Amino acid sequence: MEDQAEKLREIMRRKKALAGKPGKPVEKSNDKSRIITVTSGKGGVGKTNLSVNMAIAFARLGKKVVVMDADLGLANVNVMLNMIPKYNLYHVIKKQKTIREILVETEYGISIVAGASGFSQIANMGDEDRKDFINELDTLSNADIIIIDTSAGVSSNVLDFIAAADDAIIITTPEPTAITDAYGIIKIIATEYESFNMGLKLVVNRAKGAVEAKRVADRMINIAGQFLNLKVDYLGFIYDDLSVPHSVLRQKPFMVVDPKCKASLCVQHLVERMDRSRPKESSGFGAMLRKIFHRNTEVGSD
Ligand SMILES: Nc1ncnc2c1ncn2[C@@H]1O[C@H](COP(=O)(O)OP(=O)(O)OP(=O)(O)O)[C@@H](O)[C@H]1O
Ligand SMILES: [Mg+2]
Repeated sequence: MEDQAEKLREIMRRKKALAGKPGKPVEKSNDKSRIITVTSGKGGVGKTNLSVNMAIAFARLGKKVVVMDADLGLANVNVMLNMIPKYNLYHVIKKQKTIREILVETEYGISIVAGASGFSQIANMGDEDRKDFINELDTLSNADIIIIDTSAGVSSNVLDFIAAADDAIIITTPEPTAITDAYGIIKIIATEYESFNMGLKLVVNRAKGAVEAKRVADRMINIAGQFLNLKVDYLGFIYDDLSVPHSVLRQKPFMVVDPKCKASLCVQHLVERMDRSRPKESSGFGAMLRKIFHRNTEVGSD
């Protein structure tokens, strides 16, 4: 965690140094996709399960949902849905495919995009290529909801996504190590992105019940408020439920395998809560990407 944090600070220093450069003002986008990132400090705490099942719950509310896997290497989302997409964002970067061509419809009423590892390459692209790529991603903006399943821990990419999202969900389990790492990521967000106004939301996964989850959440939220002056909302909890590993083994979402299990009902509840609290102003995916990748350069939107 310490090493990662230092690495990140170095990246942020470089970004801040660039920030002084004059640039064309970034045009406001008209897209309206709500961008939700799901992240954690510690790995294996339930990000992919939450991303995929939350997507299905949103789809059941009539939303058009895209799940984007932010880690090509692990290909979490694909595995969980038993799918092997042939193409990913890399092919879009290389201009071999359009985003529509790599978007894979699933049998669950949601679509997935494989391989956001390409995002790390955007920073190294020339201005024209980068603009083309972002415009290409922009075509996802007809989705109501874009859920980004990020990799665990601290990296510049992940933090950029968290900071630029409409809703940034931090997920933890009641385990002390998971809590410590979740706090670690919240702390870095608070220090590095003070000017960002993201909706940081906490989900406690694998809880024995509401009381345990609330205790974990209260502690984290209080510490974040007291020491970091950062507002974190408690979005809710998910029961520790054997239906989850069972459905993972079957490579089907638990919302589908067992829509009435405790975990499914919790996710449904979380999604209903989120749906009621639509962000005041969602600037959309294109605007988000411009915010991330253009804020320090002279590349404007078109
Ligand atoms: N609510 C739950 N109840 C019981 N087991 C759970 C629950 N949530 C997650 N798990 C278990 O934890 C495992 C890891 O979940 P998941 O793959 O969603 O985590 P992750 O945070 O995406 O991991 P990674 O950091 O490797 O991407 C699941 O395969 C499942 O066995
Ligand atoms: Mg995962």
